[in-house]
Amino acid sequence: MTDNEKKLHEQAYEEVEKKRHIDKIDPYRQIFHVMPPTGLLNDPNGWIKWKGTYHLFYQWYPYDTTHGSKYWGHYSSKDLVTWKEEPIALAPSEWYEKNGCYSGSAVDNNGVLTLIYTGNVKDEEDRRDSYQCVATSTDGTHFTKLGPVIESLPDGYTAHFRDPKVWKQGELWYMVLGAQTVEEKGRVVLYTSKNLTDWEFKGAIAGAGIGGITDFGYMWECPDLFSLDSKDVLIISPQGLEQEGIHYQNKFQAGYFIGEVNLDNAIFHHGDFAELDHGFEFYAPQTTVDENGRRLLTAWMGVPEQDEETQPTVTNGWLHCLTIPRELHIHEGRLWQTPVKELQKLRHDHESITQTLSTSDLLTFGDLAETAMEFVLTGLEEIKGIFEWTFRNEARLIFNAASHMLTLERRNTRTHLTEQRHVRIDSLKRLHVFMDASSLEIFINGGEAVMSARYFPSPKDKSLTMRADEQVMISLDKWVLS
Ligand code: FRU
Repeated sequence: MTDNEKKLHEQAYEEVEKKRHIDKIDPYRQIFHVMPPTGLLNDPNGWIKWKGTYHLFYQWYPYDTTHGSKYWGHYSSKDLVTWKEEPIALAPSEWYEKNGCYSGSAVDNNGVLTLIYTGNVKDEEDRRDSYQCVATSTDGTHFTKLGPVIESLPDGYTAHFRDPKVWKQGELWYMVLGAQTVEEKGRVVLYTSKNLTDWEFKGAIAGAGIGGITDFGYMWECPDLFSLDSKDVLIISPQGLEQEGIHYQNKFQAGYFIGEVNLDNAIFHHGDFAELDHGFEFYAPQTTVDENGRRLLTAWMGVPEQDEETQPTVTNGWLHCLTIPRELHIHEGRLWQTPVKELQKLRHDHESITQTLSTSDLLTFGDLAETAMEFVLTGLEEIKGIFEWTFRNEARLIFNAASHMLTLERRNTRTHLTEQRHVRIDSLKRLHVFMDASSLEIFINGGEAVMSARYFPSPKDKSLTMRADEQVMISLDKWVLS
């Protein structure tokens, strides 16, 4: 470690240690989600199962809840359920990353854990440079920086050129990068390498001017390209899409294309873009594959420039968390997401309730035992009118069987007005909800759609209520999670 790195690590920990007590005083600290010890978290980075342990890094600004010069924070886990805080992996100590060790990925290079990330540099006039950089570790904890491996931009691109996702196929390493053309349009470009050090630019595989897309946002961030269930999937986080009805309701989106890629020719034939999540907070997802071939996804449960000041955790000096890990599959041409089965380890105090809901009753399930709970609700095919499920008087799910619309509503903590997100569901059968101290993740019909949101209920309010405007019999399984 260089002296400067050492200094940055020590300074960050001085700050973190001052604020450790927030775990005891902040009712919104999560029970089973990855969150920063203090400061701001954004994208998941470098997710990998390496030598039997999952390593999950994240974009981190340890000092404040703003987007300052980013570090890579680091957690490890044997089971995707219990996470151990590891020392800082990367701090912005060198000239080529002085304004942030930006997002990237991890690979196993003959037993060496190798991180590939973007060094972000800005000058006094706020002009940007981007360098794709490498750091390696033999113990999974301490990283040695090797510096930039891609220093210049291909013709036609701006310095918004970042977030390398690297993988190996056959003898070659491949990298996709999020990019912006000089006309300020989003794209994904492809590089190859024999050794992770010398990289060859192969061209753009998707985005403006390619495969029928003319204009789809001014920048595509955090690409991820992988094979799944005999297809190829490209995940991106495009910026600059306008809202279209119930689509693209957040400030920025995250979604995917399914198709077939030819890596030799850098060609990706794909279908339409689809959003990955229909809630309020979800961005910059990253996937990894485990030794059993499961394709796993986690995302930042937040969105850039969206309501940061409305999240009350800033008062206690921390902001944002990641989603629970989800397993991906393709079904009927769409990506389905299901919570990883390891999360069942958290379950205890199981209760099963079967009950008829009718017009006037508000079915109250009494006090929730804990703020971290899991629910599986079935019997919903019988809903004819409107069904509502309210969580701690702060968020509400509403299904309108006539319009096939599922709506998630919550109170905006700044304006106190309700805000809504929607998804169309042909037939609602099952709702699977993961509730943590300040988040809800709602999996619909076994993974057909997901709605993720942070919410900030009054710590005293432990209520859970349901109502339907026509009689319906529902079954609810619930567990306390800890
Ligand atoms: C996405 C993103 C990335 C960038 C990182 C910086 O949220 O903007 O493109 O690498 O965050 O923290």
